Amino acid sequence: MCSDEEVMRHFPKTLSEEETTELINRLKEHFDIYGYTYFAIDVLETGEFIGFAGLKNQEWESDFTPCVDIGWRLKKAAWGKGYATEAAKACLDAGFQTFGIKEILSFATDTNVASENVMKKCGMKYVGNVQHPAILNDSRFKHCVVYTQYS
Ligand SMILES: CC(C)(COP(=O)(O)OP(=O)(O)OC[C@H]1O[C@@H](n2cnc3c(N)ncnc32)[C@H](O)[C@@H]1OP(=O)(O)O)[C@@H](O)C(=O)NCCC(=O)NCCS
Repeated sequence: MCSDEEVMRHFPKTLSEEETTELINRLKEHFDIYGYTYFAIDVLETGEFIGFAGLKNQEWESDFTPCVDIGWRLKKAAWGKGYATEAAKACLDAGFQTFGIKEILSFATDTNVASENVMKKCGMKYVGNVQHPAILNDSRFKHCVVYTQYS
């Protein structure tokens, strides 16, 4: 999934297997500390892994951070079936009810219509734009939209 150029087209680059393992390890560490992370998504009927969605603390500097964000990434074959929206709604509920988080934000480049639609379909509201420092120098990703939801 992380090495697929289409899946990663709103990110600076695809990830190698080693970089993906590092990402998974960072997500596991986050889970050990906070109890939440970007969770794996399996199709319940088949057990097939199709991607991730979840909650993560974001510490990079901006008007909207530090915060807890919600994010998602699915294998291409799983797109367009409502899985991202279903997973996102479940993660928002868990964030507010299980983990007592007061506000959850979501970020996407303004060209990532699919991701912004997931935010809207979860009931999140647009609150502004931000520049992510990690992608500041890449003109493709200059503008990110920010959505929020309160508990
Ligand atoms: C973002 C992502 C998870 C959305 O997955 P998905 O399967 O399209 O999500 P859902 O089916 O739950 O719903 C998304 C909504 O956006 C719509 N949509 C999807 N792709 C779209 C596109 N390119 N243009 C316009 N609308 C789009 C869908 O039709 C759906 O709305 P609908 O139910 O009213 O038809 C998926 O595209 C993905 O993994 N992208 C790559 C990783 C990524 O960019 N992650 C987000 C980083 S911020």
